Amino acid sequence: MSFSDIVQKRRTFAIISHPDAGKTTLTEKLLWYGGAIREAGMVRAKRGRKAATSDWMEIERQRGISVTSSVMSFPHDGHHMNLVDTPGHEDFCEDTFRALAAVDSAVVLIDGAKGVEPQTLRLMEVCRMRRTPVITFINKCDRDIRDPLELFDEIEQSLGLPCVPLTLPCGSGVSFRGVYSLADQAFHSFAERKQDDEDRTERGIHRFGLDSAELDRLGGEREAGKLRELAEFVTGAMPGLDRDAYLQGRQTPVFFGSALHLFGVKHLLDALVGIAPAPSRRASDKREVMADEDAFTGFVFKIQANMDPKHRDRMAFVRVCSGKFVRGEKVTHVTSGREIRMAAPTTFVAQDRSLVDEAFSGDIVGIHDPGVFRIGDTLTGGEKLLFEGIPEFSPEHFARVVSKNPLRSKQLSQGLEQLTQEGAAQVFTPFSGPHQLLGVVGRLQFDVIQFRLSGEYGAECMFEPVPVWSSRWVVGDEEKVRLFKDQNIFDCATDRHGGLVYLPSHEFKVRLMQEKWPDLKFESARR
Ligand code: G4P
Repeated sequence: MSFSDIVQKRRTFAIISHPDAGKTTLTEKLLWYGGAIREAGMVRAKRGRKAATSDWMEIERQRGISVTSSVMSFPHDGHHMNLVDTPGHEDFCEDTFRALAAVDSAVVLIDGAKGVEPQTLRLMEVCRMRRTPVITFINKCDRDIRDPLELFDEIEQSLGLPCVPLTLPCGSGVSFRGVYSLADQAFHSFAERKQDDEDRTERGIHRFGLDSAELDRLGGEREAGKLRELAEFVTGAMPGLDRDAYLQGRQTPVFFGSALHLFGVKHLLDALVGIAPAPSRRASDKREVMADEDAFTGFVFKIQANMDPKHRDRMAFVRVCSGKFVRGEKVTHVTSGREIRMAAPTTFVAQDRSLVDEAFSGDIVGIHDPGVFRIGDTLTGGEKLLFEGIPEFSPEHFARVVSKNPLRSKQLSQGLEQLTQEGAAQVFTPFSGPHQLLGVVGRLQFDVIQFRLSGEYGAECMFEPVPVWSSRWVVGDEEKVRLFKDQNIFDCATDRHGGLVYLPSHEFKVRLMQEKWPDLKFESARR
């Protein structure tokens, strides 16, 4: 197979959803379907440490999953599928942003009874910003779901994406009979679905047009009638699939099914293979890098420290953007200019880690981080180019970090430094006062950080409230920035890159400053 064919057969995607919509279940079924795990339950088993009684335990539990299931690969129809995990909890939306930077498309999973939920909205916002192509899967059709037209309308209104239904449900809940694929003119019978987990062959597929009496026989007259009406509306009044519009994030193909019953899931997989994009190109400061170029390039999108508490290790997750990544070869870390040997690149499937000998454009590998990597760093075979960084956003909650034990201040600083490199929080150093400020996107991250600082670094600390509303990176002419800092020294700090940050106590202060300093920009994201 030529290198270009290898790349064309890769699909790197993420599943995003509101908690409980069925992401774990769907992930498991996809892995099982692809033969990557022997029995369903292997992904869930990892998060099985039940007792998610308090919020931070929930986060720890999620951290447990995201560690082992950061990326999972499985085959489908001659393609190599890379599924990148996204954290389910809303307080980790920055992690999701980074995960979405590493994928070429996304699947949004919606609970058919609940429709679009808050977390779906937030995550879709991220997809929109990145123009990620999105396929929608409406789950739990074996339970009573809402009227499909209402769901399409809601998706279009709230997510801003016109729907293109490619399958339609016949009934739902106890009267769920199956789904009808408009493209293949085929009815997939829920009653005849496979029951045996050893058997991956499709059954219960009947090819006939919508006006066939077979539909009444298999779907029941009432449900068949409703399906015909729905199909008539969909084909008459809704747009057809326009692949370019999908690729540009301007429409979303929609499928119905039940992840739990592995029903309708093959339609989704076939669509990922059939219409979802293969790795293609990525902008850098020098030029556009094409996925089928020979030379290796990639970037770090996630760093996870102390994955195994027994061995202090740090793992960097690299998305390969072009060329081939070969175990044991040296790559250049462009920012530092260092050459680093890729001694033990790792892939993950459910609970298992395994070493990889080579990886291609679109793949994701975990590599040991000797402490030099930062999120967004570029790695190449030698060329000096930098991929666009992954932005950091203004945190929404701030606190002053006070060490409970002054003798462990060094460990505290070290822990904070490492956790911020992971992207778990941002640290700001004010020009006034001895204590650092910590900023997080979701409050729960405070608990997690406190817990991890204590557990992983032996550093006990307290977080004291501070009157900071948000942070703004001050950008502009060097001299003017310095002047601004001097005049507002008590409300200014530096971020970990040394950039000047304004920390207003109230929203109106940003507007005020903007009026007073029209030549400066007060940015809520650092690129
Ligand atoms: P999440 O990762 O998105 O948070 O969701 P997860 O897969 O854990 O699923 C949440 C609940 O929804 C689970 O039930 C799961 O079994 C159920 N579920 C997922 N897909 C379907 C489906 O297609 N149909 C039905 N009826 N249920 C579905 P649970 O009771 O919370 O957990 P469990 O006891 O089943 O493990």
